[in-house]
Amino acid sequence: MKLTHHHDLARFKRLGLTLSSKLTQTLSLCLGLGLVAFTCSAANDTSAIARGAYLMKIGDCVACHTAVGGRELSGGLPFETPFGAVYSTNITSDKDTGIGKYSYEEFFDAMHHGVGINGNLYPAMPYTSYSLLTDQDTKAIYAYLMNTKPIKQANLDNDVSFPFNMRFGLKAWNLVAHDAKEFTPKEDKSERWNRGNYLVNALGHCAECHTPRDSLFAMEPDKHFQGAIIEGLEASNITSAELNRQNWTHDDLKSLFTEGYSRKGTVFGGMYPVVYHSFSHLTDKDMFAVNSYLLDTDKKIEAKALTFNGHQPKLPGYNLYMGYCAGCHGQNGEGRPNVAPAMAGNSTLDKASPHNVVAVMLKGIKSQHYNTTTSFYAMPAYADQLNDEQLRDLTNYLRVTWSPQPGDLDLNTIKDLKEVIFEHD
Ligand code: HEC
Ligand code: HEC
Ligand code: HEC
Repeated sequence: MKLTHHHDLARFKRLGLTLSSKLTQTLSLCLGLGLVAFTCSAANDTSAIARGAYLMKIGDCVACHTAVGGRELSGGLPFETPFGAVYSTNITSDKDTGIGKYSYEEFFDAMHHGVGINGNLYPAMPYTSYSLLTDQDTKAIYAYLMNTKPIKQANLDNDVSFPFNMRFGLKAWNLVAHDAKEFTPKEDKSERWNRGNYLVNALGHCAECHTPRDSLFAMEPDKHFQGAIIEGLEASNITSAELNRQNWTHDDLKSLFTEGYSRKGTVFGGMYPVVYHSFSHLTDKDMFAVNSYLLDTDKKIEAKALTFNGHQPKLPGYNLYMGYCAGCHGQNGEGRPNVAPAMAGNSTLDKASPHNVVAVMLKGIKSQHYNTTTSFYAMPAYADQLNDEQLRDLTNYLRVTWSPQPGDLDLNTIKDLKEVIFEHD
């Protein structure tokens, strides 16, 4: 996804305004005409439209269906696939260039089976997750979309190479790789857990990044949430076992998903837009449901002290840390408010794979804003300053000093990681 963060935020704020003014218009129109029970019931049901607006946020539709600098939901954002670029389409209510002509049944097919009125859709559109949506929620999203302002903007042609430009090939892909199942609550779990499961897996489509894919690019169901490489970063293992091992609490996840940073570090890469556009808008109740599902418990988890095993000045990584990193991340890795997050207890360090640690050192992170009072500096890129030996020494030092991970990475690990990290540049 080619999104710039500043731009996203500005766009997002605008969206908030448009949604509510549109909604009040429709509301007053329906109420004013006294038609609430009749005409306003199908595509004009105001409570459905309001719910649709919320569901659209949690489903993150705007982020994908709006080009950088483009008008909301009018499409045109490119997605790099292994076969070429696919562009998102205009899903405003315009009858010629948008989806205004879609009947509810046709819309349902697009959302659940990846079949649009012009043929099969590329799975860049996450219908592989949305297929879990309930009929009621699909209707609410439909009601919302049919009440958007029509924008006339023709769709861009995809640059997908032969034979992948043949949409009928996708039909075959669907047969082998897409199992359209309705969401079924687990009976041995609480209502709250099931709600969280639904929000995360259906609307949130978190698995699209966090679940590894097989040779057909289908998500592997038995490796659900075990982590996958996405645009040079690792969309980490977020299984409940791993999140609990790292001592994430409900409050930590809540601050990560509302603020973008927490006691255990910040979100970056593809995770930042997810938080900004989507999960930061969860209601408190839904947020608790999501976190109860992710942690597989709604019982309070005790926050343990943040790991700091003490400095070892004899290790080669010590001087590198003090020279390059301590100015922002703190002498003892305690972090600095409005500058940089703590290394102590940071979940990016506490992972079996050092992938993201090395990626962040090589490529840096653009300055990100977290809310009106908090924004961190940019994390500099050190690709030109640190050689492979130094990267190895630093990574090992960070791991032994601020996490329970061993400091035994060798040069080959760094070299292999570099290949994956720079693969898509
Ligand atoms: C990760 C990016 C992404 C997200 C999130 C996403 N879409 Fe899409 N969507 C796409 C792309 C790309 C296409 C075009 C696929 C193609 O041309 O084969 C598409 C196509 C569609 C279509 C078919 C439209 C047509 O032109 O015939 C509909 C309807 C649609 N999306 C609705 C939604 C809704 C509603 C949401 C939110 C619940 C959503 N999308 C979220 C990427 C996304
Ligand atoms: C100019 C200040 C600055 C310096 C110097 C700096 N960092 Fe960072 N670093 C940051 C900021 C800010 C972030 C978080 C960025 C974000 O996600 O918004 C960060 C994030 C990280 C992360 C990811 C953890 C997380 O929670 O986001 C790691 C790992 C990291 N830095 C390691 C290092 C190492 C190792 C060095 C020295 C080679 C270093 N940093 C030097 C500012 C800095
Ligand atoms: C576009 C790809 C993408 C999507 C979609 C996505 N993530 Fe992520 N996620 C990432 C990447 C990349 C990272 C690693 C960088 C970081 O720590 O922020 C990450 C990190 C995380 C982390 C931090 C893990 C840790 O140990 O530090 C959590 C928790 C998380 N994601 C949860 C979710 C949830 C819940 C959703 C669904 C709402 C989701 N993600 C959707 C890409 C994605």
